[in-house]
Amino acid sequence: MFNNKSILITGGTGSFGHQYVKTLLALYQPKRLIIYSRDELKQYEMQQVFDAPCMRYFIGDVRDKDRLTQAMRDVDYVIHAAALKQVPAAEYNPMECIKTNIHGAENVIAAAIANNVDKVIALSTDKAAAPINLYGATKLASDKLFVAANNMVGQGRTRFSVVRYGNVVGSRGSVVPFFQKLVKEGAKSIPITHPEMTRFWITLPMGVDFVLHNFTRMHGGEIFIPKIPSVRIMDLAAAYAPHTPTKEVGIRPGEKLHEVMCPADDSFHTFEFKDHYVIAPSIKFYQDDIRFDRNKTGEQGTLVTAGFEYQSGNNPHFLTVDEILAFNE
Ligand SMILES: NC(=O)c1ccc[n+]([C@@H]2O[C@H](COP(=O)([O-])OP(=O)(O)OC[C@H]3O[C@@H](n4cnc5c(N)ncnc54)[C@H](OP(=O)(O)O)[C@@H]3O)[C@@H](O)[C@H]2O)c1
Repeated sequence: MFNNKSILITGGTGSFGHQYVKTLLALYQPKRLIIYSRDELKQYEMQQVFDAPCMRYFIGDVRDKDRLTQAMRDVDYVIHAAALKQVPAAEYNPMECIKTNIHGAENVIAAAIANNVDKVIALSTDKAAAPINLYGATKLASDKLFVAANNMVGQGRTRFSVVRYGNVVGSRGSVVPFFQKLVKEGAKSIPITHPEMTRFWITLPMGVDFVLHNFTRMHGGEIFIPKIPSVRIMDLAAAYAPHTPTKEVGIRPGEKLHEVMCPADDSFHTFEFKDHYVIAPSIKFYQDDIRFDRNKTGEQGTLVTAGFEYQSGNNPHFLTVDEILAFNE
């Protein structure tokens, strides 16, 4: 599917971008693979690792529609990964988060339609489901923009879908590197927000594979959600800081005890497939006859029961401490 195609990834120098490029170059021969992001140093460092002839490094901001429109010329597929994603930073600098995550999404959509890009997948997060912090709220707004964008394409071919998943093991600024840093520094205790806290847990390769797979599955308008395991915060501490006592510090503003991926209120248009869920658009769609219970590869899903919620605390699949340690190997 990606052989001889031109692909652009916004935020391509991030954690997801690195794994995505690694996977794509190992499996396919793209015509051009464009990294679109702001910081020249991150791009320079990435170029030292990924210098295949198809690689292109474009400096640009998703807040800049003209630059995005220029960058997407003759592009077939876009992955929108650029985001501001630190919850406290978003609370403190709300308009900056809104400009990147919401206006940026709007610009990606406009640039993709202007260039008749074939397919766009935008990355979302469990924090966008029934959000309680600004980061999640901006990602929910972004999700809504991408779903509704399918109604803006007119005769064009562009289709937009969203992939939503949970915490990525070891990504920049996340809990595992934080615990590891504390252990290395000889901290006397590991801060635990709440002993019953749970999170969805996914590795970067799993996230990348899921995104790549959904390019073949998508009609346009779906929110794709993988079935992934959950972890208990106490088991994470036992896995990564086994000899350091824990200290309860209380839930931080904007944090939930459990994360949600499929909210109960969306259950009336959520379909369960073998290894994932699909939230179908709740708005009337450009083509009335799309069957979101059946994807483009022919996989068949079934409507979930009314009130069903896919949530990290009620997930039937929890990792044990040993499984947590083996999970990222
Ligand atoms: N990591 C997780 O646990 C997780 C979980 C669920 C969903 N997600 C979603 O997955 C996506 C990728 O996450 P990640 O972990 O790869 O993030 P990351 O490592 O922080 O990378 C973010 C990327 O976005 C770029 N960026 C930020 N602002 C930009 C702007 N205004 N214009 C252009 N590029 C910009 C950054 O580069 P520059 O700073 O150089 O511009 C960087 O390349 C995000 O949409 C995030 O919401 C992540």
